[in-house]
Amino acid sequence: MQQPIKMERTGNPKAKPALTDMQLGFGQYFSDHMFLMDYTDGQGWHDPRIVPYAPLMLDPASMVFHYGQAVFEGMKAYRTTDGEAQLFLPERNAERLNRSLERLSMPPLEPGQLLNAVRTLVHVDQDWIPRQEGTSLYIRPFVIATEAAFGVRPSSRYLFTIVLSPVGAYFQEGLQPVDILAEAQDVRAVRGGTGSAKTAANYAGALRAQVEARAAGCSQVLWLDALERKYIEEVGSMNVFFRIAGHVYTPSLTGSILEGVTRGAVMELLDDWDVPCIARPISLDEVLEAAEAGTLEEAFGTGTAAVISPIGGIRWKDRFIPINGRQVGDLSQKLYDTMTGIQRGLIRDVYGWTT
Ligand code: COI
Repeated sequence: MQQPIKMERTGNPKAKPALTDMQLGFGQYFSDHMFLMDYTDGQGWHDPRIVPYAPLMLDPASMVFHYGQAVFEGMKAYRTTDGEAQLFLPERNAERLNRSLERLSMPPLEPGQLLNAVRTLVHVDQDWIPRQEGTSLYIRPFVIATEAAFGVRPSSRYLFTIVLSPVGAYFQEGLQPVDILAEAQDVRAVRGGTGSAKTAANYAGALRAQVEARAAGCSQVLWLDALERKYIEEVGSMNVFFRIAGHVYTPSLTGSILEGVTRGAVMELLDDWDVPCIARPISLDEVLEAAEAGTLEEAFGTGTAAVISPIGGIRWKDRFIPINGRQVGDLSQKLYDTMTGIQRGLIRDVYGWTT
């Protein structure tokens, strides 16, 4: 049985930022309220509540600070053109959060409880959903270990929090193609590790290569597999797709790749459009050879934050391989327009993705 959410409304609402795409950036402003719920061994999840947005008070010995039990999700609420608030595939985020929790030995959440918390919080702060094209309200649920103890074992206490942030484009470039650096040293994840979980450590371990990519004039890292540095895994924090001679390919989920909600939706769209899309191992060599042969038509990343992010070229050692004349490809554009059209209620959702 779901416990009722206690509500404490702020008496001091914040001034809202100008809610346009460029001014918002990504994840810089936070709404008036947040959702909190505690977990204690023996008692389960308890005390769901919505309270004014404020810093959390945590014991410095909280296990999250030391052994990294921390998982999160990213989802979005959109203001449709007829003024409704709409969520995109929230059930898939709820399922993935539970898979991440399981991988990190953290207690599962009842999916209905998570969705109810998201809906209630978004409803309370619905004035924070921006209206302009290219904007949305980013929803960040996360769970951290809060037991104060230094023994290396799963924590007996956790905190589940949801915060909301009105956002514009994830990349300053918007839909403009970005260059990426294929990384020869660092790896994002290993098979059997935590790569398929949305856990903080995966992102922390990826920062060094990201900084190096930036220094080399690239926006993102193209991640290769940990065993052979041969097969492509992800781009930045997104899944990756390549269109080669009319076929679309994306790396199969080997255990070190995050199963993106947008990845799944893109594959469904391509299937519906009769564009062959195949999930299988893709080597960097294969992509470079296709580029040389002139059959690499386009490449793009997919994720909740950027939706579709076209790739302008790949830097690999001392080579730079431009893709599609560094222009947005037809398929990338069509996918972006369709996904965002459905999300904003401009295109009828025949797939049942929106709530
Ligand atoms: C996404 O593409 O949605 C991400 O995972 C990026 C996010 C960590 C900001």
